[in-house]
Amino acid sequence: MLVLGVESSCDETGIALYDTEHGLLSHALHSQVEMHAEYGGVVPELASRDHIRRVLPLTELALQEANKTLQDIDAIAYTQGPGLSGALLVGTSFAESLAFSLDVPTISVHHLEGHLLAPLLEKNPPAFPFVALLVSGGHSQLMRVDGIGKYTLLGDTLDDAAGEAFDKTAKLLGLGYPGGPALAKLATSGKPRFKLPRPLLNSGDLNFSFSGLKTSVLTLANQHQPLDESTRADIAYEFQEAVTEVLTTKCMSALRETGLDNLIVSGGVGANSKLREKLNAATKRKLCTVSYPRLEFCTDNGAMIAFAGAMRLKAMHGTTEKNYSFSVKPRWDLAELEAP
Ligand code: KG4
Ligand code: ZN
Repeated sequence: MLVLGVESSCDETGIALYDTEHGLLSHALHSQVEMHAEYGGVVPELASRDHIRRVLPLTELALQEANKTLQDIDAIAYTQGPGLSGALLVGTSFAESLAFSLDVPTISVHHLEGHLLAPLLEKNPPAFPFVALLVSGGHSQLMRVDGIGKYTLLGDTLDDAAGEAFDKTAKLLGLGYPGGPALAKLATSGKPRFKLPRPLLNSGDLNFSFSGLKTSVLTLANQHQPLDESTRADIAYEFQEAVTEVLTTKCMSALRETGLDNLIVSGGVGANSKLREKLNAATKRKLCTVSYPRLEFCTDNGAMIAFAGAMRLKAMHGTTEKNYSFSVKPRWDLAELEAP
């Protein structure tokens, strides 16, 4: 079965074609990063308008690349939430109306389920059950994954998400949006000179807290005014050390507590090379495995939505209702999801 995937929950329009027999056939992406950069963050109304402009040309591109036509599509999967409501509405209305015109079913996908399953698009994916670390701009969660739609929350952030902490700290250091990649780049020229706290490192549970780190960075930055380039790099280095050490330690605790030995990492912060370096070393020491999506599928994309939709469709043996009424879910807890 050929599934068209549509992602439009935030600032990336992503379209992809996933074939349940042959795997991912094509994917096309447009990032709005440059457009939002001058405002220092995502402007929701601009995001929606840009999705409208991009969704059709990207669909044509994905079809062309896969050498398929609209008539080859068997089902359409789209991000129903969580995300920006106007942005979600673009992808949702496009997917539902195209499905209506083609007389094929739709599958509404939870954006985080898309992220969570993205590592399974790669070669030799781990089998269920496994532990998942989901670290994006809006979420920092540890989950036990027993199958599609079978997610048990093990730990969550009490305040800022890991990506949000990267973005806010980057702003404090005068870096542009999105801050994560910029801060990671600056950190490569930094040295171990400062010491920042490791929040909740020994809390005995699997929760995270990153907002205090930002305040510590602010205090450090104020003590070293005016900030020269090497001080900024040293602060970035230590901030990245603190976040990745906490994430790695909690992942290892989650593996120990669940008795599982496979870890998957997904979401934008999963692209961070220091995090990957630490997780690779820690899992190797404990004879566990760790899997990541390829770098371009760590951040938002259509491939993960097409894949999650295809997995749900497969689990339902290809039968799903053709309903074509739609609503978006800007707020949607992953724990509310049910197995197909
Ligand atoms: O998963 P994602 O594309 O969007 C959400 O669904 O939130 O993640 C975006 C987040 C941003 O906060 C961005 O700064 C962060 O991921 N990010 C990174 C890196 N690449 C993206 N953070 C740290 N290091 C990176 N290399
Ligand atoms: Zn995302």
